[in-house]
Amino acid sequence: LALDNRPIGVFDSGLGGLTAVKEMMDLLPNESIVYFGDTGRVPYGTRSKETIIKYAKQDIRFLLKHNIKAIVIACGTVSSVALNEAIKESTVPTMGVVEGAVLGALNATKNKIIGILGTSATIRSEAYEKAIRAVKDDIKTVSNACPLFVPLVENGYFKKDNEIAILAAKEYLKPLIEQNADTIILGCTHYPLLKDVIASVVGQDVTLIDPGKQAAMALKESLKVNNMLSLNKNGEHRFYVSDSTENFSHYANFFLGKNMNSSVEKIDIETY
Ligand code: DGL
Repeated sequence: LALDNRPIGVFDSGLGGLTAVKEMMDLLPNESIVYFGDTGRVPYGTRSKETIIKYAKQDIRFLLKHNIKAIVIACGTVSSVALNEAIKESTVPTMGVVEGAVLGALNATKNKIIGILGTSATIRSEAYEKAIRAVKDDIKTVSNACPLFVPLVENGYFKKDNEIAILAAKEYLKPLIEQNADTIILGCTHYPLLKDVIASVVGQDVTLIDPGKQAAMALKESLKVNNMLSLNKNGEHRFYVSDSTENFSHYANFFLGKNMNSSVEKIDIETY
């Protein structure tokens, strides 16, 4: 049995990718993880394609300095807008969150109507629609950009009974409810934090697809098939950010659903 104890590199525009890290920690406890959250330049979702590509390349160059064996792009925006450029920049196997989420949604839908939520850049790219059409041609899709969701989450407004979050969700989900979507892709890694709020608006019969969870499952499968699983007893987790480490540690606990017992270090991403 081959083994590969090198860490997995994960990056996001900020805190959101930690929802994917949480799923990876649960599903792949032996794997070490190096996380970069670009907290100094968040959000990516409102920026141009050129800027998102430039940022994604820098994030990848930073992670590649850490002797990693693979990269998970835990950002819906980068996965939607810059996946090909990111893969070209990377020297290790690199995956985004779109494909796994799409496969999860295709498995879940019964009425063949899939809703897609994401940042403005993600929705503009139509990456999820294209990935759906590549697999199946009889699926109806309805999408909506949710520009207020990321700042709501990053400011802690995501609890089930938060009235501001509920109002925003009602507004953004209107077209998806009108079109009768029975499955909704939370196409941004921040959105799983709003799962309870979104569920309370759409009702329990609608399946919500968490991109981080789908990515963790796809990663596990891929490491297994390629004999690249780690045989460490316990993975080590290291976190890097491009802005204040205190703010990150505080909110990281929400995203990870537990206390982050690891150190956080600030780096200058512009030098990569
Ligand atoms: N976490 C990012 C994503 O998944 C959203 C935040 C941003 O706009 O940078 O799209």
